[in-house]
Amino acid sequence: MDAFVIRGGTPLHGNIAIAGSKNAALPIMAAALLTDDPLDLLDVAELADIGNMRRLLHALGCDATAHDGALRLHVTDTSTSAAKYDIVRTMRASICTLGPMLARRGEARVSLPGGCAIGVRPVDLHLKGMEALGARLSLDSGDIVATTPPGGRLIGATVFLGGAYGPTVLGTANVMSAATLARGRTIIESAACEPEIVDLAAVLNAMGARITGAGSPRITIDGVERLHGARHRVMADRIEAGTYIMAGAIAGGSLTISNCPVDCLMAATTTLAEAGVTIRAEPGADPLRTTVTVSRSGPIRPTHVTTQPHPGFPTDLQAQLMALLTLAEGNSSITERIFPDRFMHVAELARMGADLMRHGSTVLVSGVKRLVGAPVMASDLRASASLVLAGLAASGQTIVRRVYHLDRGYERMEDRLNAVGAHIERVDERSLPLMD
Ligand code: EPU
Repeated sequence: MDAFVIRGGTPLHGNIAIAGSKNAALPIMAAALLTDDPLDLLDVAELADIGNMRRLLHALGCDATAHDGALRLHVTDTSTSAAKYDIVRTMRASICTLGPMLARRGEARVSLPGGCAIGVRPVDLHLKGMEALGARLSLDSGDIVATTPPGGRLIGATVFLGGAYGPTVLGTANVMSAATLARGRTIIESAACEPEIVDLAAVLNAMGARITGAGSPRITIDGVERLHGARHRVMADRIEAGTYIMAGAIAGGSLTISNCPVDCLMAATTTLAEAGVTIRAEPGADPLRTTVTVSRSGPIRPTHVTTQPHPGFPTDLQAQLMALLTLAEGNSSITERIFPDRFMHVAELARMGADLMRHGSTVLVSGVKRLVGAPVMASDLRASASLVLAGLAASGQTIVRRVYHLDRGYERMEDRLNAVGAHIERVDERSLPLMD
């Protein structure tokens, strides 16, 4: 296992180009199961989760090859429709294969993903959506077994997909993908409005689907007989962009972020402006692929934030924002409404001198004058990113262990940050002294 050794305290200057979105690419890749034709995708980042999805699709008879700078996905064998636990447990987005397989092949077996570091994460809303479309569902040895109703096709229906914590992103993706091949009209009420859903709908429509309303809480899908191949450039990663914007804010200096989907980051940029960070977007450029300049002339100011479904402040930037606010001049609060237990970074940030107090799903952040480098442990993808950000600002040396979590969602983060002035070395954990 790798670790990062970070020497903090240097400002960042230069440009970081944002890669294709992980969370958009994963359900889009699964949509390749909906057609016998090739699906060509551009800007698919080289990440551990993308590799896992390629492995899973391969096991489901879908070849994945790099072709002319694109990732070509092509179903060549439909004899196996079982997504097994050994891959599903490594990546929850595996559940996205359920809808496409069921819709196209009439049957699917997908292992239940189980919990993960950020919470319980049930899939009941995915199943509710499939059932509404007429799917017959059962549980067998920890697997969801799904078949289409008699006649072999799913049947369009109106389904409310809101849950106790709001809409579901991958649940919306799953049901929307399945409904493209259903007989008749499907309406998803309380659909997730995340930009990744809009990107998935764009690909599905390019494949011949008839979807309207993606990006709003009501999505309408008129089922078609078949889908064909398409070519699509995956949207830029708004969470990667938000993370590097916060890296610039915490480390100081002047950073530009190109291929930045600033239009999808309104809640984050507004919050950062409140915190005293100046973010300027290139005038007149495409707001989904623009260049922004990040700088901060004064101190970090405290603020109060609650995570919400899009367009609210994203849970996937909560940990990174907390790292920034540890250094604010005053007291901040962060409330997590999407995954109320997503606070694995709190104890680790405290090891670096942060003053944090958790009350249920809220953390009170009392700003401190400085963070001090320490050995810390990454526990999930975004928590790891927050520890790296804290390490950039801390005095002395920070060692972040288990950065394989980070590699799931950030392409060679250390190279990107070192190119703009950071000092991060990737080392084999076995070369480090033992931690208690
Ligand atoms: N939920 C249910 N039942 C369900 C599904 C979800 O109760 O059937 C609950 C969840 O437990 C949570 C809330 O609904 O409390 C929202 O979960 P959602 O289903 O929207 O999450 P997801 O689709 O599994 C995606 C991203 C996450 C991101 C969330 C929220 C991907 C691959 N994952 O997960 O990304 O945090 O949406 O925006 O798109 C990450 O990238 O670090 C990450 C965790």
